[in-house]
Amino acid sequence: MDKPKLNFLSKFKIAALAPLAIVLLLLWFVYNVYTNGQVQHPGKSTYQTECAGCHGDNGEGTAQLIPPLVRADYAIRHFDSIPCWITNGMNHPIIVNDIEYNQVMYGKPLSDVEAANVINYVAQQFLKNDRKVNSAWVNQQWQKCK
Ligand code: HEC
Repeated sequence: MDKPKLNFLSKFKIAALAPLAIVLLLLWFVYNVYTNGQVQHPGKSTYQTECAGCHGDNGEGTAQLIPPLVRADYAIRHFDSIPCWITNGMNHPIIVNDIEYNQVMYGKPLSDVEAANVINYVAQQFLKNDRKVNSAWVNQQWQKCK
């Protein structure tokens, strides 16, 4: 008497679980295609297109010409000026981690959101100073650009 009951139950389980498994597999696949296997920081793509050409994918800079961003004491000390450097550029001698640099960094017309995202990316990945900024802060700093 128990047998047909069990059969019904296992058939039901397969019928219910197989589509669920397929849906989960599809979601996982789409997620992986979308994130390229990792969840990407919102500032990463801007960094790669607007900054990495000079400062390097890993913020390493180039010896004597382009200052590094990795634990850059200059950027950490003058953190509030970064929005102005990004939009207006920078062109005066600076000393970063004991090495002097004097080349031109050209300004980039980034939006406030793009600037905030890229600054957060730089802060988290390279400066390691756990500052987190938003577009309102970027606008505040822009008011103070010299
Ligand atoms: C054309 C090459 C170039 C690009 C592109 C560029 N920079 Fe720079 N960056 C420089 C140079 C050169 C300096 C030093 C300028 C000077 O000596 O006046 C500098 C200085 C800096 C500094 C301060 C010095 C330090 O290392 O702490 C920061 C921070 C910085 N850049 C961030 C960025 C960010 C963020 C971007 C992208 C939005 C970017 N840069 C794009 C060349 C570049």
